[in-house]
Amino acid sequence: MKPSETTNNNSKVEEVWMGAFPICLYQGFWCPPNLLQPTILFQTQFKAYDNDIILASLPKTGTTWLKSLIFAIVNRNKFLDFTQHPLQTQNAHELVLQLEAKVYNNITNGSTQPDFPKLPSPRLFATHIPYFSLPKSLKTSKTRIVYVCRNPLDTFVSSWHFYHQFKLNMKPELDHSMIEQHFGKFCEGKFLYGPYEDHVLGYSKESIQNPDKVLFMEYEGLIEDPKAHVKKLAEFVGYPFSMEEEKGNIIDEIIKLCSFDSLKEMEVNKSGNFYGYFENKALFRKGGTGDWTNYLTLSMVKKFDEIFQLKFKGSGFSFNHYQFFSGTPK
Ligand code: A3P
Repeated sequence: MKPSETTNNNSKVEEVWMGAFPICLYQGFWCPPNLLQPTILFQTQFKAYDNDIILASLPKTGTTWLKSLIFAIVNRNKFLDFTQHPLQTQNAHELVLQLEAKVYNNITNGSTQPDFPKLPSPRLFATHIPYFSLPKSLKTSKTRIVYVCRNPLDTFVSSWHFYHQFKLNMKPELDHSMIEQHFGKFCEGKFLYGPYEDHVLGYSKESIQNPDKVLFMEYEGLIEDPKAHVKKLAEFVGYPFSMEEEKGNIIDEIIKLCSFDSLKEMEVNKSGNFYGYFENKALFRKGGTGDWTNYLTLSMVKKFDEIFQLKFKGSGFSFNHYQFFSGTPK
C-alpha cells in the first residue's frame, strides 16, 4: 500500500519513521498497514475467557519485561527449577503472544478463526491496541488487563533506537537532525499505536473506573520498587503470593529471573528473532530511566511538554513514579 492511499476501512496511510515504513490511521490510532486486517479480525472474532490475562502496552514501554513477569508469576508452580525455565529457551514474545501481530496474523486459507495454539489455562495474551478499540468481548468479560506505561520521552528514545536498529541498520546518535524530525512526528501523535497520550489516558481512565478490570502500572514504579509491584501484579492476575511464599525467596527469584541483566544474558535472547524480523537482542538495549536526557534538547522537550500538558489537562492523570521533565536535557 502506498502513502495517501485509502484502505477500504477508510484509514489514511501515511509515511512516518523517515520513510522506513508506513503507518496508517485506523479508528484514531496509528497501525502498521500489514497488521490492519489481523487487527480487524482480532476486534471482530476474539472471544475472551473470563480467566484470560491480557497485557496491554504501547511498544517500547516494557512489554517484554511485563510478559516475562506475568508468565513467571502465573506458572511459578509449574517450573520450579529456574535454570530450566521456559524463559531460558523461549523469548517472552513467544510465550505471551501478541493478539493482532501474531495470533490473528497467522490465519491462512481464508479462515476467519485463528487456530489458537493449545495454550494452557489461563491464556496469556498481549496487545498494543488502545482501550477504546479493544474487542467488545474483552471489555465485557471478566478478563483482566494489565497495562504498563512508561515516561513518554524514554519511550520515544527507545523506539528511535529500536526501529533504526532493525530497519536502517544505522547508529541513531549519528544524525541529530533525524531524531528531531522523528520527534516532531511523535509530538503530532504519529507513533505506533499512538497518539501516546490517548493510549495512556484510555487505559488509565478505565483503571480508575474499573480497578478490577485494568491494572495500571508504570515502568518507573517497577524499577523503583519491584517487590511491591510484583506482589500487586500477582494479586491482580489472581495468583497472589501466599504468606509462606512471601517469607521464602520466590518473589525475589522471579524479579531476578526477569531482570534486564538476566533476560539479556539468556542465550535465546542473544540470538534468534521473533515474528521473523525483530532480533531478540534488540529488545534489551539499555533499560532503566532517563536516557532521554542524552538525546533530546531543551527546545524539543518544551515542545512536547506544551502538547502533553494540553492533552492531559483536566484528565486527572498524572504519573506516580515519574516527575514530568525532571532531568536535564543535553
Ligand atoms: P530501552 O530501549 O530504553 O533500553 P518493549 O519490551 O515494550 O519493546 O520495551 C523495550 C524497552 O524495555 C527497552 O528500553 C528495553 O531495554 C527495556 N527492557 C527490556 N527488558 C527489560 C527488563 N527486564 N527490565 C527493564 N527494562 C527492560
